[in-house]
Amino acid sequence: MSIFNDNLLRGEVALVTGGGTGIGKEIARTLGRHGARIVISSRRQEVLDAACEELRAEGIECLAVAADVREPDAVERVIETTLARFKRLDIVINNAAGNFPASLDNISYNGFKAIVDIDLLGTYNVSKASYEAWLKQHGGRIVNISAPFEHWGVAFQAHVAAAKTGVDSLTRTCAVEWAPLGIRVNSVAPGPIGDTEGMDRFESATGKSRAALGSKQDIANAVLFLVSDGARFINGVNLRVDGGSGIDMLKMPVSS
Ligand code: COA
Repeated sequence: MSIFNDNLLRGEVALVTGGGTGIGKEIARTLGRHGARIVISSRRQEVLDAACEELRAEGIECLAVAADVREPDAVERVIETTLARFKRLDIVINNAAGNFPASLDNISYNGFKAIVDIDLLGTYNVSKASYEAWLKQHGGRIVNISAPFEHWGVAFQAHVAAAKTGVDSLTRTCAVEWAPLGIRVNSVAPGPIGDTEGMDRFESATGKSRAALGSKQDIANAVLFLVSDGARFINGVNLRVDGGSGIDMLKMPVSS
Protein backbone atom coordinates (compact mmCIF):
# COMPACT_ATOMS: atom_id res chain seq x y z
CA MET A 1 0.00 0.00 0.00
CA SER A 2 1.55 3.26 -1.13
CA ILE A 3 0.51 6.79 -0.25
CA PHE A 4 1.40 7.77 -3.82
CA ASN A 5 -0.91 7.47 -6.81
CA ASP A 6 -0.31 4.28 -8.84
CA ASN A 7 -0.07 6.38 -12.02
CA LEU A 8 2.34 8.95 -10.59
CA LEU A 9 5.08 8.13 -13.14
CA ARG A 10 2.90 6.74 -15.94
CA GLY A 11 4.56 7.23 -19.34
CA GLU A 12 7.98 7.93 -17.85
CA VAL A 13 11.23 5.97 -18.07
CA ALA A 14 13.61 5.49 -15.15
CA LEU A 15 17.17 4.16 -15.15
CA VAL A 16 18.39 2.66 -11.87
CA THR A 17 22.08 1.76 -11.64
CA GLY A 18 22.81 -1.09 -9.27
CA GLY A 19 19.15 -1.95 -9.82
CA GLY A 20 19.60 -5.73 -9.77
CA THR A 21 19.88 -6.15 -6.02
CA GLY A 22 19.25 -4.56 -2.63
CA ILE A 23 18.14 -0.95 -2.32
CA GLY A 24 18.46 -0.40 -6.08
CA LYS A 25 16.07 -3.23 -6.88
CA GLU A 26 13.56 -1.85 -4.36
CA ILE A 27 13.81 1.60 -5.94
CA ALA A 28 13.28 0.07 -9.40
CA ARG A 29 10.27 -1.90 -8.15
CA THR A 30 8.75 1.14 -6.45
CA LEU A 31 9.16 3.44 -9.46
CA GLY A 32 7.75 0.66 -11.66
CA ARG A 33 4.76 0.10 -9.38
CA HIS A 34 3.96 3.76 -9.87
CA GLY A 35 3.88 3.49 -13.64
CA ALA A 36 7.47 4.04 -14.83
CA ARG A 37 9.12 1.77 -17.36
CA ILE A 38 12.37 0.61 -15.83
CA VAL A 39 15.94 0.12 -17.01
CA ILE A 40 18.29 -1.52 -14.54
CA SER A 41 22.04 -1.68 -14.97
CA SER A 42 24.91 -3.27 -13.07
CA ARG A 43 27.90 -5.44 -13.85
CA ARG A 44 26.30 -8.89 -13.99
CA GLN A 45 23.75 -9.59 -16.73
CA GLU A 46 22.42 -12.74 -15.01
CA VAL A 47 21.62 -10.81 -11.83
CA LEU A 48 19.86 -8.12 -13.85
CA ASP A 49 17.89 -10.68 -15.85
CA ALA A 50 16.62 -12.33 -12.66
CA ALA A 51 15.62 -8.95 -11.21
CA CYS A 52 13.82 -7.96 -14.41
CA GLU A 53 11.90 -11.24 -14.34
CA GLU A 54 10.74 -10.42 -10.80
CA LEU A 55 9.60 -6.97 -11.86
CA ARG A 56 7.86 -8.26 -14.97
CA ALA A 57 5.94 -10.74 -12.80
CA GLU A 58 4.47 -7.66 -11.12
CA GLY A 59 3.48 -6.17 -14.47
CA ILE A 60 6.41 -3.75 -14.67
CA GLU A 61 8.10 -3.22 -18.06
CA CYS A 62 11.80 -3.78 -17.46
CA LEU A 63 14.99 -3.68 -19.54
CA ALA A 64 18.31 -5.04 -18.22
CA VAL A 65 21.56 -3.61 -19.63
CA ALA A 66 24.87 -4.71 -18.11
CA ALA A 67 27.62 -2.12 -17.67
CA ASP A 68 30.28 -1.07 -15.22
CA VAL A 69 29.61 2.56 -14.22
CA ARG A 70 33.38 3.11 -14.15
CA GLU A 71 33.50 2.81 -17.96
CA PRO A 72 32.10 5.84 -19.82
CA ASP A 73 31.72 3.95 -23.11
CA ALA A 74 29.69 1.23 -21.44
CA VAL A 75 27.56 3.83 -19.67
CA GLU A 76 26.89 5.61 -22.97
CA ARG A 77 25.75 2.28 -24.42
CA VAL A 78 23.25 1.89 -21.56
CA ILE A 79 21.75 5.29 -22.34
CA GLU A 80 21.71 4.57 -26.10
CA THR A 81 19.98 1.22 -25.51
CA THR A 82 17.43 2.90 -23.22
CA LEU A 83 16.61 5.57 -25.79
CA ALA A 84 16.46 3.03 -28.63
CA ARG A 85 13.94 0.96 -26.67
CA PHE A 86 11.83 3.56 -24.87
CA LYS A 87 12.53 6.79 -26.81
CA ARG A 88 12.91 8.82 -23.62
CA LEU A 89 14.65 8.98 -20.24
CA ASP A 90 13.02 10.98 -17.45
CA ILE A 91 14.57 9.72 -14.23
CA VAL A 92 18.12 8.63 -13.40
CA ILE A 93 18.91 7.00 -10.06
CA ASN A 94 22.64 6.73 -9.35
CA ASN A 95 22.55 3.90 -6.87
CA ALA A 96 25.45 1.66 -7.99
CA ALA A 97 28.11 1.59 -5.28
CA GLY A 98 30.94 -0.45 -3.88
CA ASN A 99 31.80 -0.84 -0.25
CA PHE A 100 33.94 -2.94 2.02
CA PRO A 101 34.48 -2.03 5.65
CA ALA A 102 38.20 -1.66 6.35
CA SER A 103 40.44 0.48 8.52
CA LEU A 104 42.86 2.86 6.79
CA ASP A 105 45.62 0.35 7.64
CA ASN A 106 43.85 -2.22 5.52
CA ILE A 107 42.80 -0.17 2.50
CA SER A 108 45.29 -0.41 -0.37
CA TYR A 109 45.84 2.37 -2.91
CA ASN A 110 43.79 0.40 -5.38
CA GLY A 111 41.06 -0.40 -2.84
CA PHE A 112 40.51 3.30 -2.12
CA LYS A 113 40.54 4.09 -5.85
CA ALA A 114 38.04 1.31 -6.64
CA ILE A 115 35.43 2.83 -4.33
CA VAL A 116 35.96 6.42 -5.51
CA ASP A 117 35.78 5.17 -9.11
CA ILE A 118 32.51 3.31 -8.59
CA ASP A 119 30.70 5.70 -6.25
CA LEU A 120 31.85 9.15 -7.33
CA LEU A 121 33.12 8.78 -10.89
CA GLY A 122 30.33 6.29 -11.64
CA THR A 123 27.74 8.85 -10.55
CA TYR A 124 29.42 11.48 -12.68
CA ASN A 125 29.67 9.17 -15.71
CA VAL A 126 26.00 8.20 -15.65
CA SER A 127 24.82 11.78 -14.97
CA LYS A 128 26.99 13.21 -17.73
CA ALA A 129 26.00 10.57 -20.31
CA SER A 130 22.29 10.96 -19.49
CA TYR A 131 22.61 14.73 -19.64
CA GLU A 132 24.36 14.78 -23.01
CA ALA A 133 22.12 12.22 -24.68
CA TRP A 134 18.72 13.34 -23.37
CA LEU A 135 18.29 15.43 -20.23
CA LYS A 136 19.76 18.70 -21.48
CA GLN A 137 17.17 18.79 -24.28
CA HIS A 138 14.18 17.48 -22.34
CA GLY A 139 14.74 18.01 -18.60
CA GLY A 140 14.37 15.28 -16.00
CA ARG A 141 15.26 14.28 -12.47
CA ILE A 142 18.36 12.69 -11.01
CA VAL A 143 18.62 11.19 -7.54
CA ASN A 144 22.04 10.15 -6.25
CA ILE A 145 22.26 7.68 -3.39
CA SER A 146 24.91 8.94 -0.97
CA ALA A 147 25.50 8.42 2.77
CA PRO A 148 24.97 10.52 5.93
CA PHE A 149 28.72 10.86 6.45
CA GLU A 150 29.60 14.43 5.56
CA HIS A 151 29.99 15.80 9.12
CA TRP A 152 31.72 12.83 10.71
CA GLY A 153 34.89 10.83 10.75
CA VAL A 154 33.58 7.38 9.90
CA ALA A 155 35.88 4.56 10.99
CA PHE A 156 36.26 1.69 8.50
CA GLN A 157 34.68 3.86 5.78
CA ALA A 158 37.38 6.37 4.78
CA HIS A 159 37.07 5.53 1.08
CA VAL A 160 33.26 5.41 1.09
CA ALA A 161 32.83 8.59 3.16
CA ALA A 162 35.19 10.51 0.85
CA ALA A 163 33.44 9.24 -2.27
CA LYS A 164 29.90 9.76 -0.99
CA THR A 165 30.65 13.25 0.29
CA GLY A 166 31.93 13.95 -3.21
CA VAL A 167 28.62 12.66 -4.56
CA ASP A 168 26.77 15.20 -2.39
CA SER A 169 28.97 17.99 -3.71
CA LEU A 170 28.41 16.85 -7.30
CA THR A 171 24.67 16.76 -6.59
CA ARG A 172 24.67 20.42 -5.60
CA THR A 173 26.71 21.54 -8.59
CA CYS A 174 24.61 19.59 -11.10
CA ALA A 175 21.50 20.99 -9.40
CA VAL A 176 22.47 24.62 -9.87
CA GLU A 177 24.04 24.27 -13.32
CA TRP A 178 21.18 22.22 -14.75
CA ALA A 179 18.16 23.82 -13.03
CA PRO A 180 17.67 26.27 -15.94
CA LEU A 181 17.24 23.25 -18.23
CA GLY A 182 14.45 21.74 -16.11
CA ILE A 183 16.64 19.13 -14.45
CA ARG A 184 16.37 18.60 -10.70
CA VAL A 185 19.21 16.79 -8.94
CA ASN A 186 18.97 15.62 -5.32
CA SER A 187 20.57 12.98 -3.16
CA VAL A 188 19.23 10.53 -0.60
CA ALA A 189 21.47 9.41 2.24
CA PRO A 190 20.36 6.07 3.68
CA GLY A 191 21.20 5.26 7.27
CA PRO A 192 21.44 1.67 8.50
CA ILE A 193 19.10 -0.35 6.31
CA GLY A 194 18.15 -3.93 7.14
CA ASP A 195 18.43 -6.90 4.81
CA THR A 196 21.19 -5.38 2.65
CA GLU A 197 24.63 -6.60 1.62
CA GLY A 198 26.18 -3.42 3.04
CA MET A 199 24.69 -3.94 6.51
CA ASP A 200 25.67 -7.64 6.47
CA ARG A 201 29.25 -6.67 5.66
CA PHE A 202 29.30 -3.97 8.35
CA GLU A 203 27.97 -6.34 11.01
CA SER A 204 30.37 -9.13 10.19
CA ALA A 205 33.36 -6.76 10.03
CA THR A 206 32.64 -4.92 13.27
CA GLY A 207 30.73 -7.57 15.24
CA LYS A 208 28.16 -4.87 16.00
CA SER A 209 24.52 -4.93 15.11
CA ARG A 210 22.29 -1.87 14.97
CA ALA A 211 19.32 -1.47 17.28
CA ALA A 212 17.15 0.32 14.74
CA LEU A 213 17.17 -0.34 11.04
CA GLY A 214 15.27 1.23 8.22
CA SER A 215 13.91 -0.74 5.29
CA LYS A 216 14.72 -0.65 1.61
CA GLN A 217 11.18 0.59 1.09
CA ASP A 218 11.93 3.64 3.26
CA ILE A 219 14.67 4.63 0.81
CA ALA A 220 12.55 3.88 -2.25
CA ASN A 221 9.70 6.02 -0.87
CA ALA A 222 12.06 8.99 -0.42
CA VAL A 223 13.34 8.58 -3.98
CA LEU A 224 9.78 8.34 -5.31
CA PHE A 225 8.86 11.59 -3.56
CA LEU A 226 11.93 13.39 -4.89
CA VAL A 227 11.25 12.39 -8.50
CA SER A 228 7.56 13.27 -8.21
CA ASP A 229 6.00 16.64 -8.97
CA GLY A 230 5.37 16.95 -5.25
CA ALA A 231 9.07 17.83 -5.04
CA ARG A 232 9.08 20.15 -8.07
CA PHE A 233 10.74 22.99 -6.11
CA ILE A 234 13.22 20.76 -4.29
CA ASN A 235 16.63 20.84 -5.93
CA GLY A 236 20.15 20.20 -4.65
CA VAL A 237 19.16 18.77 -1.28
CA ASN A 238 20.68 15.81 0.50
CA LEU A 239 17.79 14.04 2.22
CA ARG A 240 18.91 11.85 5.11
CA VAL A 241 16.68 8.81 5.52
CA ASP A 242 18.23 7.38 8.64
CA GLY A 243 15.88 7.79 11.60
CA GLY A 244 18.11 10.63 12.81
CA SER A 245 21.15 8.42 13.40
CA GLY A 246 23.33 10.57 11.11
CA ILE A 247 23.08 13.56 13.45
CA ASP A 248 23.13 11.60 16.71
CA MET A 249 26.51 12.26 18.29
CA LEU A 250 25.84 9.95 21.24
CA LYS A 251 24.47 7.22 18.96
CA MET A 252 21.30 6.70 20.96
CA PRO A 253 19.10 4.06 19.35
CA VAL A 254 15.90 5.33 17.81
CA SER A 255 12.82 3.21 17.35
CA SER A 256 11.48 2.91 13.86
N1 COA B 1 39.26 -5.25 2.51
C1 COA B 1 40.32 -4.58 2.00
N2 COA B 1 40.51 -4.41 0.65
C2 COA B 1 39.57 -4.91 -0.18
C3 COA B 1 38.44 -5.61 0.28
C4 COA B 1 38.32 -5.77 1.70
N3 COA B 1 37.25 -6.41 2.24
N4 COA B 1 37.70 -5.96 -0.79
C5 COA B 1 38.34 -5.50 -1.88
N5 COA B 1 39.46 -4.86 -1.51
C6 COA B 1 40.48 -4.27 -2.39
C7 COA B 1 41.12 -5.34 -3.24
O1 COA B 1 42.14 -6.03 -2.51
C8 COA B 1 41.71 -4.50 -4.38
O2 COA B 1 42.88 -3.84 -4.00
P1 COA B 1 44.36 -4.45 -4.41
O3 COA B 1 44.37 -4.48 -5.91
O4 COA B 1 45.31 -3.46 -3.82
O5 COA B 1 44.44 -5.80 -3.79
C9 COA B 1 40.67 -3.42 -4.54
O6 COA B 1 39.88 -3.38 -3.34
C10 COA B 1 39.74 -3.67 -5.70
O7 COA B 1 39.18 -4.96 -5.51
P2 COA B 1 38.62 -5.80 -6.72
O8 COA B 1 37.86 -6.95 -6.15
O9 COA B 1 39.73 -6.09 -7.67
O10 COA B 1 37.72 -4.73 -7.43
P3 COA B 1 36.34 -4.87 -8.04
O11 COA B 1 36.19 -3.66 -8.84
O12 COA B 1 36.07 -6.15 -8.71
O13 COA B 1 35.39 -4.85 -6.75
C11 COA B 1 34.61 -3.85 -4.76
C12 COA B 1 34.78 -3.73 -6.23
C13 COA B 1 35.96 -3.57 -4.15
C14 COA B 1 33.63 -2.79 -4.30
C15 COA B 1 34.11 -5.20 -4.28
O14 COA B 1 34.08 -5.19 -2.89
C16 COA B 1 32.74 -5.57 -4.78
O15 COA B 1 32.58 -5.88 -5.95
N6 COA B 1 31.72 -5.58 -3.94
C17 COA B 1 30.37 -5.97 -4.30
C18 COA B 1 29.42 -4.84 -4.40
C19 COA B 1 29.36 -4.02 -3.14
O16 COA B 1 30.36 -3.57 -2.66
N7 COA B 1 28.21 -3.79 -2.60
C20 COA B 1 28.13 -2.97 -1.42
C21 COA B 1 26.82 -2.47 -1.18
S1 COA B 1 26.88 -1.27 0.13
